[in-house]
This record gives sequence, structure tokens and C-alpha cells, in this order.
Amino acid sequence: MVRPDFPFETDRLLLRPFTLEDVDDVLAWEERADVHRFLYSQPRSRDEVRKELARRAAMTGIDHQSQAIRLAVLLRDGGALVGDVSVQRTSMEHQQGEIGFLFHPAHHGRGYATEAGEMVLRLGFEGARLHRIVGRCDARNEASARVMERLGLRREAHLIENECIKGEWTDELIYAMLATEWFARAGRMAQEDR
Ligand SMILES: CC(C)(COP(=O)(O)OP(=O)(O)OC[C@H]1O[C@@H](n2cnc3c(N)ncnc32)[C@H](O)[C@@H]1OP(=O)(O)O)[C@@H](O)C(=O)NCCC(=O)NCCS
Repeated sequence: MVRPDFPFETDRLLLRPFTLEDVDDVLAWEERADVHRFLYSQPRSRDEVRKELARRAAMTGIDHQSQAIRLAVLLRDGGALVGDVSVQRTSMEHQQGEIGFLFHPAHHGRGYATEAGEMVLRLGFEGARLHRIVGRCDARNEASARVMERLGLRREAHLIENECIKGEWTDELIYAMLATEWFARAGRMAQEDR
């Protein structure tokens, strides 16, 4: 169980829960069709973003009250709100979780999703003590698959036309990491840093 003290800082980013004041920044990516291209969701209006933010603002822990931590990602340099990362518990019995990430296209290609993704993996494994965390994406979503590979998740499955999304049969990739793999990787990285 984990209900952390926010914010968190990485080298370049600050992660904190969403608030209703984030509506303009979040609308800037939520209203764009390209952002939702490979997602189940559709572009959202300002009202829809406001409702979403009320839901997301409550996602601040993995415990008896909440099953997810969903965080706004800001640049430490300048404070711009550039993305959204999450880790949710999908099964308490089996200690399974799932990560997600989404960034404004103006901030792609700089490694921010990978940097924020490391933080939510840490929260999932070291805070919530999850046993296994997955990441899933449309097989055409190469940028997302690359983030999961950079994070060290293993590709476990390529499901063929398992879903019909936005009127198209689509393939899905399933990536996963076990807690043992996370701690082995974290140990390796600590040694490399020495
Ligand atoms: C998925 C998504 C977050 C990936 O964004 P991204 O910018 O490719 O990923 P990162 O922020 O980790 O950036 C990595 C890229 O930045 C480059 N980069 C530049 N500077 C870097 C730095 N200092 N550190 C690390 N990478 C850096 C990397 O080489 C990499 O490029 P490559 O993928 O061409 O090899 C983005 O495409 C997105 O928001 N898509 C819409 C929502 C979505 O589909 N979400 C996934 C749902 S499953």
C-alpha cells in the first residue's frame, strides 16, 4: 500500500497529483486527435476534461481507498505541464499493476516519458509492493513500445486482432516486468552510478 508525499522530482521533471486548475494545460493535449490515435479514448472537450480531472485528482494512492496513482508531469525548468503518467493496481489478490503515459506532442522525443515512467515503476514496486507490472499498447504505437523497452519491460505477447478499436481490428503488445527484475535492474544501475 502506498499513499506518497508529493511532489516527486526526477532530474528534469516534477510529478504531482492533478488539480482542477490544470484544465487548460490538459485540454491542450486531450483535444488533439493525434494524441488519442492509438488509445481507447477520443478527443475531449473542456467539460469532459474537467470531469476527467476531478477523477484523476483523487488518484493519489494505492491502498484501501484508491487503486491508482496518476500524476501530472511538469518541467522543473519553467514549470510547464507536459504530460500524464500513472500506475494502477489491477489485482490486489495477484499484486498486479499497469503503467500508462501520455505527453503533449510538443514535448515528445526528449525522454520525458521514460524518465517519468521510471518513477511510477518505482512507486508500483517499491511503494505498493506489486509483484508484476504490465504496459500495453496498440502494436502500431511504436513510440509507446520503445518507452516500455527503454524502461526494461519484456515483450510478453503480441496479440493478433484481439480488439476492435475505432472500427478497426487492432493488434496489442503486452510488456511486463517482475519485482525481482526491477530490483535486479535497480541494483545494476546503482552499481553503474558508483
Ligand atoms: C508514448 C509517448 C509518451 C512516447 O513519447 P516519446 O517522446 O517517444 O518518449 P520519451 O519521452 O521517453 O522520449 C524518447 C525519445 O526521446 C529521445 N531523447 C532525446 N533526448 C533524450 C534524453 N535526454 N533522454 C532520453 N531520451 C531522449 C530518445 O532517443 C527517444 O527517441 P526514439 O523513441 O526516437 O528513440 C508519446 O508518443 C505519446 O504521448 N503518445 C500519445 C499517447 C500514447 O499513445 N500513450 C501510450 C499509451 S499505451
